[in-house]
Order: sequence, then C-alpha cells, then structure tokens
Amino acid sequence: MMTIDLRSDTVTLPTPSMREAIYRAELGDDVFGEDPTTNQLEEMAAERMGKEAALLVASGTMGNLVCTLTHCRRGEEVILGDRSHTFLYEAGGMSTLGGIHPHTISNQPDGTMRLEDIEGAIRGDNVHFPQTRLICLENTHNRCSGSALTSEYIDSAAALAKEHGLSVHLDGARIFNAAVALGIDVKELTANVDSLSFCLSKGLSAPVGSVVCGSSEFIAEARRARKVLGGGMRQAGVIAAAGIKALEEMVDRLAEDHENARRLAEGIASITGLLIEPARVQTNIVYFELDEGRMTPKALVTELNKKEVKLLSVGVRRLRAVTHYGISTEDIDLTVKALGEVMKAA
Ligand SMILES: Cc1ncc(COP(=O)(O)O)c(C=O)c1O
Repeated sequence: MMTIDLRSDTVTLPTPSMREAIYRAELGDDVFGEDPTTNQLEEMAAERMGKEAALLVASGTMGNLVCTLTHCRRGEEVILGDRSHTFLYEAGGMSTLGGIHPHTISNQPDGTMRLEDIEGAIRGDNVHFPQTRLICLENTHNRCSGSALTSEYIDSAAALAKEHGLSVHLDGARIFNAAVALGIDVKELTANVDSLSFCLSKGLSAPVGSVVCGSSEFIAEARRARKVLGGGMRQAGVIAAAGIKALEEMVDRLAEDHENARRLAEGIASITGLLIEPARVQTNIVYFELDEGRMTPKALVTELNKKEVKLLSVGVRRLRAVTHYGISTEDIDLTVKALGEVMKAA
C-alpha cells in the first residue's frame, strides 16, 4: 500500500515531463547570465506576473529574504502578520542577516490584516522609532486556512502603502492556488505589489526553486542580495527546466487539489471528536482540531501512520493536511476512513 502523505505540498515529486526537461535542459553559467533555460523561466515568470523582471532563487524563504533585504536598510521596519510564514518560520532571517525590525500585527482568520491596524502600525517621524519601509502580505495564507486574499484587499493595502511612501512585498508561495480559487488571472493579484516571490516546488510540483518578480531596477538589486546569501547558482537551468514545466502544465490542475481539500474537510466534519469549519477551506490546506480531551494530535498522527496516512501535528490540538499532485479522490476517501477508525478507537 502506498503512503498517503498529506503533510505538505512540498512532498510532491517532479512529473515525468519535468524529469525529461531537466535531462534535456540547455545550460550555461547563470551567474554570468548565460543559462538560457534560467533566462527563459525568468522571462516567463515576469510575464505571467505582469512585472518587468524576475529572478530564480533556491527557496521561498530565500525569495522573501532577498526581497526584504532589497527593500530595507538596517534599522528599518517591516509590517507583517503575526501568523505569516515569514515571521513564524523563516528563522528570523530579516533581523539575523539584515538588521531589519519585524513589526507584527494580528492576522485575521482570513489571512488579511485590518487596514486600520496596518495604518496604526506605520511609524511617525520620531527619533525614537525605526522607520517603516515595507508591508508584507501572504497569499494564499498558510496558517490562516490557506485562504486566498482578494485583489480588492491587496489593492487597498497597496494604496495605503503608497499613501505613506511604503513598498509592498507579497509572499506568494502559493499565489497560483489563490488565483485558481478566485477564478482570476494571477496578474490581478500582483498588479499593485512592488515585489513578490512564488514557489515552483509546492503545489506546482517542481523539485526546487522559487521566483522573485518586480521592476527591472528592483531585480538588479535583488540579484546582488541573492549573491550575498550564496544563492548565485551556476547551471541553474536544471532547476529552471522543471520550473518551466510547472508553469506550463501544473497551474490549472490546482483546482483538483482544492476539490480534494473540500472533500477532506467535509469528511472530517462528519467524524465525532474532530472540529473543522469546512467553509474556511478555499484552497489546498485543511486545518482541523481535536475535541478537548480526546487524544493529542501527536498520538493521532502516530495512529494514522500505522494506516499509511501522514498528517502534520501543528499545535496543542491542531492538525494540518495539504492536498497536492499525486493525491487522488480515492486517497481522500481512504484518509477519511482511517481518521474515522482512529477516532472511534480513541
Ligand atoms: C506561505 C509560505 N511562504 C514561504 C514558504 C517558504 O518556502 P520554502 O520552504 O521553499 O523556503 C512557505 C513554505 O511552506 C510557505 O508556506
């Protein structure tokens, strides 16, 4: 029996056409700007996002850090959500490496930050304060049920930023999930942000890589920040080749993952002892909780492992499942069955 691994969409393996493209990729030294496949991916990504230029980086974490380092100088401040991936899970890179101060405000359950909270967090001109430079948004919002921020919200946040002379960076690790869920062109979500980073290696199934997009001037500076971080890669076309296939072939099918996530959420809602709001599930991320006193998430994960199902325990009572390429409707039904059996025995 094959394991059904729902811990993350990062466990996806490259598709056969990606493996073929990697094998056949035309290569050169990308630090000299001479890797044709990387250049092709960067042009394609910039075009898809409606930006002038793009830059291949090793990971989503590197993409966000490269952008933050490019927007901010030491001692400047970034406003971001208290449940954002950048704040919670990127090893504090902006402060460790950039001397940049994170100013967190509450994320609402739908992944937004209230505009009045953002405005209230913007520093005035006072010698006691760090200077606000950047606002970071996340779409889809991982910790907030994988919810999709709308273009209207992003545009309002960007307008507020502009009014105060600030820039906006979008952590768009799963931006295509947002566009597919909202049924819009991804450009509508990126039109008014100054920079964004998106991942090739999550739902899009490429083995490695993320892409940063912005103006030509921004990307020229970001290239320097990437070099500082040791991210100047040489024959990077082996990574880019899979990324091109990811953009060409793997975007539209994300709708299947969303459908499977909804099916899983509804299945979970039918199991006694598990708590979920299925209406929150808009994309491929499903969070749910164990009713108090039943069992710990870790124990649930252990019991499910025995049935060849893998989930992630993410809190005192919270668990996460993420649907992705390689997970079928049948796998979802088997997962619901396994969860039901474990909970019945608990
Ligand atoms: C919203 C978000 N941003 C950034 C990242 C970081 O990506 P990576 O693991 O490629 O560094 C992740 C990873 O899961 C993520 O969920």
